[in-house]
Amino acid sequence: MRNFVAHRIQTVPPSGIRRFFDIAATMKNVISLGIGEPDFVTPEPILKAGIASLNRGETAYTSNSGILELRRALSRHLKRLYGVDYDPETELLMTVGVSEALYLALTAILEPGDEVVVPQPCFVAYTPEVVFAGGTPVTIATRVEDNFQVTAEEVERALTPKTKALLIGYPNNPTGAVMSRENMAQIGQLAEKHDLLVISDEIYDRLVYDGAHVCFAALPGMRERTILLGGFSKDYAMTGWRLGYAAAPPDLLVAMRKIHQYTIMSAPTTAQVAALEALETGEKFVQDMVAEYDRRRKLLVGGLNTLGLDCFEPKGAFYAFPSVAKSGLDDDVFAETLLKEEEVAVVPGSAFGESGRGFVRLCYATAYEKIGEALNRMERFMRRHG
Ligand SMILES: Cc1ncc(COP(=O)(O)O)c(C=O)c1O
Repeated sequence: MRNFVAHRIQTVPPSGIRRFFDIAATMKNVISLGIGEPDFVTPEPILKAGIASLNRGETAYTSNSGILELRRALSRHLKRLYGVDYDPETELLMTVGVSEALYLALTAILEPGDEVVVPQPCFVAYTPEVVFAGGTPVTIATRVEDNFQVTAEEVERALTPKTKALLIGYPNNPTGAVMSRENMAQIGQLAEKHDLLVISDEIYDRLVYDGAHVCFAALPGMRERTILLGGFSKDYAMTGWRLGYAAAPPDLLVAMRKIHQYTIMSAPTTAQVAALEALETGEKFVQDMVAEYDRRRKLLVGGLNTLGLDCFEPKGAFYAFPSVAKSGLDDDVFAETLLKEEEVAVVPGSAFGESGRGFVRLCYATAYEKIGEALNRMERFMRRHG
């Protein structure tokens, strides 16, 4: 029989993260700093709003774009936080997480062979999704010396006549980097100069520890050439509810909604009702969670630096991204040996792109005490390997 799987799908390797979870799943005493999701349960009022919706029998589809009241609340939320205006009727779409929103954005804009510039290290789905949508990812390396921020000059060097878009994600997974307003503005000017679209994944927008998040679409002139992606998974500890959104000018949104309509119909109804509650009453919980993440961040980053695992200060999301050079091991071997010898799960930086090689990602959305214990185990490990 012939191989029925499309060539472009075959070219994409499975995520480098999974392998470690499979090993970790066979161990009893593992501390996982591997998975990138909040350890908090969704705050109670949000949970209850979802349950109440089900009890009212709200089990049907919603409109393709999502519940209008939710889109109105989201529009107010984005205006309040970032001063950017989106029309709830024509410029907002509720999706199955940012994952779906990203798929829609790329599928809506790419012709075969169109290039998308993707700074790395980055979220594992970015380059595969460009390939799935028929495009070609052009990756550029960000470096610890630049605090893992991409610069306009680096982007400009990667441009060709085929470049259609730039895909950025700040606060960044896996580095925890945030982007300065100045850097963002320069990238905006570059996008204007070369008539590029910017897809800005801002799923960690509320998880910023030092200074305020800069929303790319809110920069002068950028709203019209940005697809803003955001969601509820990280900010409100709602990964399993599967809800995100896309905000974009009407012509782009119509195209994305068309794909959404034929592939998904509508985002989960219960999750949408819960998300409305999150936007209306969730602020206090976000702030409490951010304060707790910040406490853990300081413990973890301080501890890593003490062990000689040099870690630049992550200012957003919930990841630390230290260099493992001191161990003399490469990041893959470091992660595997640490898991086997000390039962601490981390993810090799190269899973997020070549420029992540030599680093590992540790997620601090894990209890404070567990982070302390993980550091003790890593100290033992570094005594043997340092
Ligand atoms: C940068 C980034 N974007 C998107 C996602 C996917 O999020 P969602 O749960 O909204 O699909 C993740 C999840 O880890 C992420 O880290």
